[in-house]
Amino acid sequence: MKIIVTGGAGFIGGNFIHHMVNKYPQYQIICLDALTYAGNMETLKSVMEKPNFKFIKGDIADREFVYGLFEDEKPDIIVNFAAESHVDRSIDDPEVFLKTNYIGTGVLLDACRKYGIKRYHQVSTDEVYGDLPLDRTDLFFTEETPLHTSSPYSASKAAADLLVQAYHRTFGIPVTISRCSNNYGPYHFPEKLIPLIIANCLNEKPLPVYGKGENVRDWLYVEDHCRAIDLIIHDGRVGEVYNIGGHNERTNLQVVKTIIHALGKSEDLITYVTDRLGHDMRYAIDPTKIKNELGWEPTTLFDEGIKKTIQWYLDNKSWWENIISGEYQKYYDKMYVGR
Ligand code: NAD
Ligand code: TYD
Repeated sequence: MKIIVTGGAGFIGGNFIHHMVNKYPQYQIICLDALTYAGNMETLKSVMEKPNFKFIKGDIADREFVYGLFEDEKPDIIVNFAAESHVDRSIDDPEVFLKTNYIGTGVLLDACRKYGIKRYHQVSTDEVYGDLPLDRTDLFFTEETPLHTSSPYSASKAAADLLVQAYHRTFGIPVTISRCSNNYGPYHFPEKLIPLIIANCLNEKPLPVYGKGENVRDWLYVEDHCRAIDLIIHDGRVGEVYNIGGHNERTNLQVVKTIIHALGKSEDLITYVTDRLGHDMRYAIDPTKIKNELGWEPTTLFDEGIKKTIQWYLDNKSWWENIISGEYQKYYDKMYVGR
């Protein structure tokens, strides 16, 4: 079995590659990644020498390159993680989100059409469903919830999902889609809430909380997401969407305070800043379908997962310190100074 994992030098794709390379020594795992600001070869260091792993640099939106790759490698499965993934960047400059997330997905699907594929899996997000009101804790996203997006990021992901479903219906491409809630864990790029708060706490810097910090996210430990995708590409039903999430809802303020207390810092570091435009209030997944069909359940609850994550950032300071000392500083200043 030969699997091309796109975006594997990023956060979730990197964790998925570790999972697959170690669990299936008999498979060939190929990482295709353009190494944007979010891609990091350090994330793949421990698998680079494994005989069942290969890294190829390239852009999923580059048709000629992608076709050449399919011709050379003849993959059985594509798992598409490659994306621009940060909502704030999509508000600042949407264009690259359309190119990578929508056009890039289209190019991969065309390659599947031209060369054949046993399975195309699209890694999507619960953000395609929009948000839920804070005062309706009885409501959850199911696979039947209408797509209703808020940010250029989520709109580009929803557009890609529709394209994947269209290629299944029109051309018979054997596709699956997963829509997961917010992930956290090792190798998470420090522009996102949890690693940003850990890094700022450790550097005694202000902790920026958007608005009142009351927005709710449904946090899933990244390994649980990787296990779910592993199950879907092997046993998921073709043409189906699977929601992935584990009822670990927390307000942003709760998350920030948990990190502050775990690191023995002061709540005085919390700084309320101007809210994100169009900020989604609450995400919450109903994972009944994947539980009933594939027996998937999350194994790491938030209180345990956040401790493991904080410990990973303490043990791997060079990984994130390298990131925040480079280009990232310019991004940080643009987004946060005087906000
Ligand atoms: P990330 O930003 O950490 O990594 C994205 C990776 O894709 C990087 O390695 C980057 O170099 C690569 N990439 C970007 N553009 C590319 C292109 N044109 N061609 C090839 N490679 C390219 O993202 P992540 O948080 O790991 O998210 C991965 C996927 O999971 C995304 O599709 C995202 O929408 C989805 N997702 C993320 C979350 C989350 O909480 N982070 C939750 C649900 C779904
Ligand atoms: P983020 O990690 O960007 O993920 P997403 O927007 O995809 O859910 O943000 C998680 C939540 O944290 C979101 O409600 C925005 C908020 N947030 C802050 O309050 N401060 C920050 O500095 C960041 C990056 C996010």
